[in-house]
Amino acid sequence: MTETELIPATDAGIARCAAMLRLGKLVAFPTETVYGLGADATNDAAVRAVYAAKGRPDFNPLIVHVPDFWSAQRLIDLPDVGVGLAHGAWPGPLTLVAPLREDSPIAPTVTAGLGTLAVRVPAHRLAKELLMAVDRPLAAPSANPSGRVSPTTPGHVLSGLDGRIAGVLDGGPCPVGLESTIIGFEGDQLVLLRPGGLPAEEIYKMTGLPVQDREGAAITAPGQLASHYAPNALLRLDADEPLADELWLGFGPGPGGPNLSERGDLEEAGSALFRLLRELDEAALNGQTIAVARIPREGLGVAINDRLMRAAAARD
Ligand code: TXA
Ligand code: MG
Repeated sequence: MTETELIPATDAGIARCAAMLRLGKLVAFPTETVYGLGADATNDAAVRAVYAAKGRPDFNPLIVHVPDFWSAQRLIDLPDVGVGLAHGAWPGPLTLVAPLREDSPIAPTVTAGLGTLAVRVPAHRLAKELLMAVDRPLAAPSANPSGRVSPTTPGHVLSGLDGRIAGVLDGGPCPVGLESTIIGFEGDQLVLLRPGGLPAEEIYKMTGLPVQDREGAAITAPGQLASHYAPNALLRLDADEPLADELWLGFGPGPGGPNLSERGDLEEAGSALFRLLRELDEAALNGQTIAVARIPREGLGVAINDRLMRAAAARD
């Protein structure tokens, strides 16, 4: 493929991205969580090209993005609890997994053969404008080579996929910086398939329902393989301070150097996490370890700790 085009976030730029997507090309675009690698979800060849560009295993299904709740309802059969949750949380960093409707136009490769589909209504203005302009659902996994850290800037996207995709819509850094929370349904219960940008506490406030944690159970989100956000460097978590030969990633007051949030704010930490992991990974010498300060396991801290644990997990 030729060079990947960085496309400005103007009306003309959005129209150009939409035209490319309608032709079956791959265009990365910003959402409030991370950059997604977009493809027309009704075009099987385009969706296959997404798996190829990412080097993604074909058993790992994609999330489909739509501009509003009504578009989502044309694709999946949401149970009543899901309708309530969608009204509370969309647009926003939440993905819902529900049975695929038989009359949905989604290409079969999107779901990797599952009877369910993951759907999300992003809140980012550019994502929304692009979805309206394309006027088709967009399949969009995070715009990184499979198994690497998700991109939160156009530069991150290009560092992994330059030459493999047609374009990147330049929306600057993503405000949330962590992927969406993924929720599935079992009867009337909400099941957490991946912690993310919408904390379980918020979901409880919206629905009055606790979120059942299925982490560590059978892999129901096939992408949730243990080491899935791997930098090259090793990580040591819940550290009090760096050892002599370690790099340091702080949270709150403590040793100097890169810090997720000096004031101990979890939102600030979430939006900085992937960027700082990449920067430290580039700075790390071969075999050097990044020591990471303890981060509270509540609110967005649950997703932050989840990503750090995966980044620290043993590699295949
Ligand atoms: O914030 C996000 O969710 C970003 C932005 C671009 O929307 N997307 C993202 O996509 O993180 P990806 O492909 O990197 O992660 C999607 C996850 C994978 O772990 C996949 O296994 C899971 O969603 N998934 C997709 N379809 C599913 C389904 N039908 N049932 C269970 N899990 C599913
Ligand atoms: Mg991903």
